[in-house]
Amino acid sequence: MGTTTPRAEPNLLGFRVNHRTMRADTRRLAELLDRVAAGGITYDRRRATALRTYLRLLCTGIHHHHQTEDDVLWPVLERSAGAAVDLRNLSADHAALDPVLDEVRAGADELVAVLASAAADQGRARTVAARLAAGLTRLSDLLDAHIEEEERLLFPVIRRYVSVADWTTVERAVRRGGSIRFELPRLERYAEPAEMDELRAIAGPVLRLLLAAMRPGFRRREAVVFGD
Ligand SMILES: [Fe+2]
Repeated sequence: MGTTTPRAEPNLLGFRVNHRTMRADTRRLAELLDRVAAGGITYDRRRATALRTYLRLLCTGIHHHHQTEDDVLWPVLERSAGAAVDLRNLSADHAALDPVLDEVRAGADELVAVLASAAADQGRARTVAARLAAGLTRLSDLLDAHIEEEERLLFPVIRRYVSVADWTTVERAVRRGGSIRFELPRLERYAEPAEMDELRAIAGPVLRLLLAAMRPGFRRREAVVFGD
């Protein structure tokens, strides 16, 4: 008899929006570099330097997210869900990301080097941009496949087996390593309005204040990197 109180489930909204942001922003950058490679957008030293900063922050954020899954989420899952989950393929995906992230960072360095030289050669810059576009496309494809698989396999397991307290620990660890000035305004770009409302309701007034403080600087950086 009696009623059972439904068990409180972890809220996966922040993770879902974070995943979407990584995927969508990487794809957007791959498409941008395709346009630079095709001569549709002209890059100079200033824009290449802004792009390099953006890509370094992006790569650090992607690496940190997956490292935190390995270091914090995986042990939580092994302890809470044990045999219900097999993390080997997802771990292999994580390891496969690192060399591609290195390739993207190196491509951004090379683009700056070409455009910073006295005789900045636009033809060479376009060749380097094409290589960087290929690296970003590879990164984007890896992220799409990996994150789709991870959400399909792990989200139901997290909801079912992981405690709200453990999930809070995971989310805190994910947040701790990233550059908040870079990550927060990007979340806002890729979250649906209703999702943003929910995130604001969870985080309280601090989120609104942080976004108001960080949005203008991020938009300026974004305009330099992505503008026509
Ligand atoms: Fe992952």
